[in-house]
Parts: sequence; C-alpha cells; structure tokens
Amino acid sequence: MKITVVGAGAVGASCAEYIAIKNFASEVVLLDIKEGYAEGKAMDLMQTASLNGFDTKIVGSTNDYSKTADSDIAVITSGIPRKPGMTREELIGINAGIVKTVSSSLIEHSPNTIIIVVSNPMDTMTYLVHKTTNLPKHRIIGMGGALDSARFKYRLAEALGAPISDVDGIVLGGHSDTGMVPLTRLATRNSVPVSEFISEERLAQVLEDTKVGGATLTKLLGTSAWYAPGAAVSGLVQAIACDQKKIFPCSTYLEGEYGLNDICIGVPVVLGKNGIEKIVNIKLSDAENEHMLKSAEGVSKTNGLLDL
Ligand code: 2OP
Repeated sequence: MKITVVGAGAVGASCAEYIAIKNFASEVVLLDIKEGYAEGKAMDLMQTASLNGFDTKIVGSTNDYSKTADSDIAVITSGIPRKPGMTREELIGINAGIVKTVSSSLIEHSPNTIIIVVSNPMDTMTYLVHKTTNLPKHRIIGMGGALDSARFKYRLAEALGAPISDVDGIVLGGHSDTGMVPLTRLATRNSVPVSEFISEERLAQVLEDTKVGGATLTKLLGTSAWYAPGAAVSGLVQAIACDQKKIFPCSTYLEGEYGLNDICIGVPVVLGKNGIEKIVNIKLSDAENEHMLKSAEGVSKTNGLLDL
C-alpha cells in the first residue's frame, strides 16, 4: 500500500508520522515545494522507525510527482494555514490554485488513487477537486468531520469527567466555526445518552467549544493545529487501506442525500478499500436539519467564490 502526502508542513508531516507508526502501509511519499524540506522530514521520521517499531518506508521529495506514481491513496495538505483571527474561508484564493495543480499532478501519476483533501476551506477544496478532476465521487474525500468529532469527544469527556474511550459523538456539516453540526442528541457515554449526565447548558457549552476547536488552537499556537488533524487523516487512510468499513463523517459530493445537491459537506460515510462505499443517511431532528441546511448555505456561498 503506497500513500502520498502532499505538503510536508506540520499537518502533512504529522499525517506521515501517524500513518507510519500504525505500520499498515509499505511506503509513504512526502512531497513539498520547499527545496529539501520533505527529504529532511522524511529522513528525521525514518530515524524514528527503530525507536517506534515501524517498517513503513518514508520517502521525501521536492515536488517530483514521478515519486508518487501508483499511489493507492493521496492526501492533500498543501496551502497556507490560517493565522489567529482568520477564518478557514479567507484562505480560498491562494489555496484553490494550489489544490487544483496538486490534484491534477497526483492523478497524472496515479490515475486510480483515492484523494483525501485537508487544505482549507476544506469543503470547498473538496468540491473544487470534484469539479476539476474526472475522479468518481467515491474517490474524493474531505477530512474535517473526523477531526471535529474527535474535538467534540474531547470536550464531552471533559464535561462528563469521563475517559474519552467511554464517549461517542459525531459532528456533521461544514468544517467551519459556524458550519459544524455536533449531534449532541446522539452523543453517548458507554451507550447512555450524555443528557443523562450533564445539563442542557453544559451541553450547549460543549457544542460551542467544539465549533471553535480549530480557532482556539490557532490562537494558542499562532498557526493551525497539526496533531489531531494528522491523526484524523491517518484514521481515514487506515480505514481505506485496511478495508475496515468504518464510519467517519467526511465531506463528500451529495446528490440529494440530506436534501442537499451539488455540494461537498460532512455526512457519515462508510470507508473501505473503494473509498466512500456508502453515505449513511441519519434521520435528523427538525433543529438539526435546519442547522445542516444553514451550514450548507455557508459552504455554497464559499463555493461561489471559486473560479470554476
Ligand atoms: C483544523 O481545524 C487544520 O482545519 C484544521 O485544525
């Protein structure tokens, strides 16, 4: 199993590290436009192999896409990250051009690859890949919901005073501060609805903290986060590479599901060797549905800024 990660910045390098540590891939190619940077990160990571006990070969390259040939899965993290006070949407101008070039170069060398888009604004970048490549929709996956759900579970566990392994929850909608739709109604602590343990007010606070999860970190770090985004991507890559049939919320092109059309937005999907193998239609409450439609409006507005 060969995986390419484009962009050797913090998110890309963290993706490569988590994929390697999980030891399911034979090769990870890390690519960057900055001369020698990906090679350096790859070498540093390879020198952790004997310490961390993995056999995955990590190869770095300065923008040589021939090295990525025949990748089974390709992750796009390239582009500029947001700075404190910036929204993900503000990155569109620069990142759209980068994502368009990167996706076509990837497909040229790996026509059968499955693409995972991480660059922001992620739902719009996923839509861009959908509109500018001929890949079937099940092979274009936007990573946002898996990360937002991990942040939701972190906040839930904190509010519940429970171990995270006891907590389950899912976030749908757009990967933006106003677009996320955390489904508090379905969140559980070991199968018991979380509303049995915490007040509505506390749950509302969890919801708000989840929505600004990325912005909170950007403010603290001075740039956007990387550990949780990298780990979330590695979870999607592993589900595909190992044909796990796991459910993750991912941004995918909708044609009527959730009452939405011609948009990529976060909904639960089953991930296996073919990429997105099924879109799971959850019955939403009226309030959740309204929230989802509002989220979609925001994503469509950002999509409208694309020069397609
Ligand atoms: C985040 O939320 C990078 O969008 C990513 O941290």
